[in-house]
Amino acid sequence: MKKVYSVINFKGGVCKTTLAVNIAAGLANYPQPNGIPLRILLVDIDPQANASVYMLGEDYWRENIQDKAKTSPNLYRVLVDKIKGKQIDYEFIIKPDDDGKNPVFGERKFKRTDGTYEIRRAKQNWSNLHLLSSVNSLFDLPKEYGYNTKLADNKHSLLADLLKTRYDEYDYIIIDCPTHFSPLTQNAISVSTNIIVPFVPDYLSTYGMNELFSRLSEYADQNGKGGLLKVDILIPTLYNEMSQDYHSFVKEVQDMIIKKRGPQRILSKAHIINSGFKRTVAVSKLIEDHRPVIDLPISHESRKTINLIVKAIIQPTKIKRKKI
Ligand SMILES: Nc1ncnc2c1ncn2[C@@H]1O[C@H](COP(=O)(O)OP(=O)(O)O)[C@@H](O)[C@H]1O
Ligand SMILES: [Mg+2]
Repeated sequence: MKKVYSVINFKGGVCKTTLAVNIAAGLANYPQPNGIPLRILLVDIDPQANASVYMLGEDYWRENIQDKAKTSPNLYRVLVDKIKGKQIDYEFIIKPDDDGKNPVFGERKFKRTDGTYEIRRAKQNWSNLHLLSSVNSLFDLPKEYGYNTKLADNKHSLLADLLKTRYDEYDYIIIDCPTHFSPLTQNAISVSTNIIVPFVPDYLSTYGMNELFSRLSEYADQNGKGGLLKVDILIPTLYNEMSQDYHSFVKEVQDMIIKKRGPQRILSKAHIINSGFKRTVAVSKLIEDHRPVIDLPISHESRKTINLIVKAIIQPTKIKRKKI
């Protein structure tokens, strides 16, 4: 295992899920000098299960995972079994079956406007990209099992216990977090080495970053991770050419990082991917089609941004950091 990245912001709709999924796909697709692709696990801890639906398609996820939450491979089932002290003697990760059939970005059936169906296949086989799926029952976990106290600190991180059993099988683990600072998010932080923060460069998002950095920093220090956990990549998202204030809000976040870098060690390596992840029609169409940004032409700016982030993860020392 090289690193565990959590994608976090306490604001919704800032592209956490879109980036988590596409960074995972970008890493899985990144050419390696020895020709052996990196092994990637995407962990969806958001009860809304957007990353799982994006990667599996709604029909597959609903029929095979969500509707069979007690027997299917998913995070809720495995956490409940861990809480109850049961033996985990089943596969809880979604990966290609013995015949090589892979539900992750697999075959999809689309209804045409004339009522007939069309089968669409992924451009490549994503056999090295696996998924620990979420189901909606994750919403009820704290209520059902009161795990708030059990999971809230590093010593009792069930997610860490679970993922550690799989460290040998993966090069990178990417965790898509929900929008709030829930016990599960805290679990994700406790198992992470790095954090990626997407943010919309507008007034309220920028304002919220102060609180985000303070919470993350406080949590890291309280859990013995101070100086170890790094918020290393920040990405402005969902802006468009018309947003005049883009530069001033990005600058505001940059200034905030400089100011907090001393007292908050989590920010010591922080840098902003300046090209950002713009709002584009091409990306929103891809998400609807359950396809990764990697499927866009190599010259498309959204694909280039994903590639930049992936490079920053794989070769952090080679990335030129803009002076901030
Ligand atoms: N580059 C993009 N261009 C247009 N729409 C996008 C883009 N990236 C994400 N979206 C859309 O923006 C919305 C929020 O993205 P999402 O990744 O779900 O955010 P979060 O996980 O932070 O709540 C979703 O509806 C998604 O389809
Ligand atoms: Mg999300």
